[in-house]
Amino acid sequence: MFNKKLEKLLNEQLGMEAQASSAYLAIASWCEINGLEGAAAFFYKQSDEERVHMLKLFRFINERSGHAIMPALTKPTTTFKNIQEIMTLFLSQERKVTESVNKLVYIANQEKDYTTLNFLQWYVSEQHEEETLAKTLLDKIKLIGLQGSGLYLIDKEIGQHASASTQDTAE
Ligand code: FEO
Repeated sequence: MFNKKLEKLLNEQLGMEAQASSAYLAIASWCEINGLEGAAAFFYKQSDEERVHMLKLFRFINERSGHAIMPALTKPTTTFKNIQEIMTLFLSQERKVTESVNKLVYIANQEKDYTTLNFLQWYVSEQHEEETLAKTLLDKIKLIGLQGSGLYLIDKEIGQHASASTQDTAE
């Protein structure tokens, strides 16, 4: 029998991933219409990845005889000041998700639900990767700056991460 407390928390996590997917899609669109091709490609990919994170939760909850429920989403922010603001938002969003995953790990352990605990390990590594990437990109923006050709260089750098491995989306 699937632990009801965990079923509820995993459903909340599913909602967080859906919200992140929607937020990154809105960012991608803004970048695209503002000439930031690299950042647009990167956030379209991030949005896809968040959808994969969401789907993994759907399947897991239902496989365990729970009921995965698609929640209502809030409208994401659609306009931004610049790429530095976007990357700051990206980092803080990922930190929130990490906090939530850590809380889930703690409760799965408390409830002795080792299947869920094992399932969550994938999210723990994924969050580590995403947070590190967000932090690295934000540091580069601060280092290079957005003046002159800085913005062009930054956009190119971010775009390189869009063509990185898409292994996650194949799962
Ligand atoms: Fe799936 Fe980036 O949190």
